[in-house]
Amino acid sequence: MNGKKIALCAPFSGPPGAEGRALKQTTTISPQALQRQREFCHQISEYNAARGKQPLALVDTYGCQQNEADSERLRGWLAQMGYRFTQREEEADVIVLNTCAVREHAEDRVFGNVGALVHTKHRRPSQIICLCGCMMQQPQVARRVRETYRHVDLVFGPHALWRFPELLWQALSRRVRVFDVEDEPGSVCEGIPQVRESGVKAWVSIMYGCNNFCTYCIVPYVRGRERSRRPEDILREVEQLAAQGVREITLLGQNVNSYGKDLPEAVDFAWLLEQINAVEGEFWIRFMTSHPKDATERLFDTMARCAKVAPALHLPFQAGNDRVLNAMNRGYTSREYLDKVAALRARIPNLALTSDVIVGFPGETTAEFEDTLALISQVEFDALFTFIYSPRQGTPAASMPDPLPMEEKKANFQRLLQAQNEISSRKHHGYIGKTLRCLVDGEGRDPRNNLTARTPGNRLVHLNGGKELVGRFVPLTITGATTWALFGRPSEEEPLCQKP
Ligand code: SAH
Ligand code: SF4
Ligand code: F3S
Repeated sequence: MNGKKIALCAPFSGPPGAEGRALKQTTTISPQALQRQREFCHQISEYNAARGKQPLALVDTYGCQQNEADSERLRGWLAQMGYRFTQREEEADVIVLNTCAVREHAEDRVFGNVGALVHTKHRRPSQIICLCGCMMQQPQVARRVRETYRHVDLVFGPHALWRFPELLWQALSRRVRVFDVEDEPGSVCEGIPQVRESGVKAWVSIMYGCNNFCTYCIVPYVRGRERSRRPEDILREVEQLAAQGVREITLLGQNVNSYGKDLPEAVDFAWLLEQINAVEGEFWIRFMTSHPKDATERLFDTMARCAKVAPALHLPFQAGNDRVLNAMNRGYTSREYLDKVAALRARIPNLALTSDVIVGFPGETTAEFEDTLALISQVEFDALFTFIYSPRQGTPAASMPDPLPMEEKKANFQRLLQAQNEISSRKHHGYIGKTLRCLVDGEGRDPRNNLTARTPGNRLVHLNGGKELVGRFVPLTITGATTWALFGRPSEEEPLCQKP
């Protein structure tokens, strides 16, 4: 593999403030190196053909949208190798679990599921079990898999995704266990095939990695430093998607607001939004995630001006108390956060605002937590993603004193949920009677409301209608609401929001 050894237990990348933050030269995988991977796909497809059956693969994804997008690439590689897909573990020739390391709960789920696969593999010894994704980029996890989960054949981290065909070929043809979890600065690879989940909505990664080193977070350690894709590659992908009739494009990055900082051209995220907005076609543009410290008025102006950019923003605030925000290394105060929200709402009055918040960061007192409650009642988010702090090995927060008992953290968490549920419910009920231009994005499970749609602000709407509506922008009159969703019916009325 290009002279690179496959090893276990690589050290973590540097701590906050380390060199490498201002990495200017992003490593790009060469077309020749990618071509070599295609040749491995061909070899695997011949290997399977010689066995005379249609090979099946199962890809299971944990974690965030970045991982969803990575799984579309894993499926792309597998399709190129001739695999079809199944949801049934017992009939799969290859099982890939694409894992997430962000909280202990996510890791526990993976360990539980991979443990259960020992029985599946026992019944089907030729099955290849692969673990990949963020969890595997942690040396202690890779070590645990090597020692305890001996039925796992292939282990690799996000950095090695582009060479999955070569790794799978080694596992298949040599019948050895393969580990490729070395720490690397990370690269950008164009041209990996993708099998997209939906024809209506698409993820487009615009950058990888994170330089922020929030003290609680494992992501910068497992995903490496920020690397931006070249604007022309992103635009080409968006143009293709728009030409295929995709109706919603979500631009992905851990902090999209630092897009372009590592590129030689003087480009930034606001500029990129403007370019994508100019692509021909009828589609909404969404993006996530935005870090408040880098969310500028220039970005807000651009969002307001660009007709295709949906009036929605996910802007995680994490905590309402300034001492806690500082200990988290977030780089803003609650006042600064509130000022940004005011600047945004002045420009986009119908903006739907969502956020992430952590309860029980080490040393956060209940009095400090009250500031989080105060912030949410002041801002009135449309929805909130709430987490209890989970220590991540190797991050600075994991070694900070954490005296607050878990019972008290849980009680605070419940108060937060209750307060937010009341706000979300009130906001949702405020939509009743309004007509909004919505995107019908798929079929639901409830036969009485067989379709799902999204408002411009990304609120979920259940409705009843013909399947031909899927993939269309339709005016919906909102007829009902709960804390988590809206109910609507197709309408002849002019919708309130003309964007785009
Ligand atoms: N890059 C994104 C978030 C990625 S992780 C951003 O900065 O907004 C998604 C969310 O998980 C974070 O916003 C945070 O709220 C939560 N999270 C991250 N690490 C966590 C930890 N150790 N314990 C609990 N929640 C955590
Ligand atoms: Fe983690 Fe997001 Fe902070 Fe990066 S910006 S360290 S991904 S929480
Ligand atoms: Fe999880 Fe990795 Fe995303 S840790 S949240 S899958 S970047």
